[in-house]
Amino acid sequence: MQFTQFNSRGHLRHLLTLEGLPAPLLTQLLDRAENFLRPAGSLPARSAALSGITVGNLFTEPSTRTRASFELAGKRLGADVINLEIQLSSRVKGETMLDTIYTLQAMGVDLFVIRDAEAGVHEYVAGHVEDHVSILSAGEAHLSHPTQGLLDALAIRRHCGGFAGKTVTIVGDLRHSRVARSAYHALTTLGIGELRLCGPAQLLPPVGEFHRGRRCTTLEEGLAGADAVMMLRIQRERMAEAEMPEVADYHAQWGLTPARLGLANRDCVVLHPGPMNRGVEIDSTVADGPQSVIQRQVTYGVAVRMAVLEHVAKGRLAHD
Ligand code: NCD
Repeated sequence: MQFTQFNSRGHLRHLLTLEGLPAPLLTQLLDRAENFLRPAGSLPARSAALSGITVGNLFTEPSTRTRASFELAGKRLGADVINLEIQLSSRVKGETMLDTIYTLQAMGVDLFVIRDAEAGVHEYVAGHVEDHVSILSAGEAHLSHPTQGLLDALAIRRHCGGFAGKTVTIVGDLRHSRVARSAYHALTTLGIGELRLCGPAQLLPPVGEFHRGRRCTTLEEGLAGADAVMMLRIQRERMAEAEMPEVADYHAQWGLTPARLGLANRDCVVLHPGPMNRGVEIDSTVADGPQSVIQRQVTYGVAVRMAVLEHVAKGRLAHD
């Protein structure tokens, strides 16, 4: 049977990819996330929507933003949240991912948030948990990072005033980027005007992927007339030594400097999923400048994860 992210009543149960999700569902999640936003300095939104629910964060790859924001999102909705330190867990004694999941499931974990470098782990786990248990991806290999795609879409919707007629340029190592893939699915589903893919030939995705994007061979071509530009880190952990571009060359050709940003539309916003390598793909003056929405993206990340957790938990409660 083909894997589905929906339960038997058509409610989203797992979130492993944005690919194939309908635009109204993405819009509903973005609208709900927007409801959780508060003015800077005020207390965060809270609710008891996840009261009695247990969230388990299992990250086998490094993370700062995604892990902390899933934790805060769960806590602000009243869930019990546990973070498993994989390096300190029995995984290092040879326990399989599935046995770790079964162990936590037996303790009552209902929602697993998983980041893993291996493609297919999330779907495999989702195929083996009990019916009331959900799997949310916090990053799968180079393939998918759905909540990042949603927060990027929210940033573009808020700062560009929607999707129709807008031009978004993704720059850098798209080939190895799960962020780019999830942004592609979110933005094309939500009706972006034009999506440009920009980077050195060896870091662009294989032909056939991102078929609705327009490939650009220079940063200048990619930036002209752009409403938003998303800079990506070189995913060194996903490439062989020989494939890695030389940092100085890369910055000279692909780094976002204030002068280059000047080629885009005057109010073009700058996104970056973090972690940034300042002086490589982006200059500090741009990262910290008035057109940057990078810190806002982090704020939207908590709101989007609250929306996803709440949505999935509602489906679970309807199950009981
Ligand atoms: C990204 C990731 O892990 O894919 N980080 C994140 O979740 N914000 C991007 C990256 O590591 O470059």
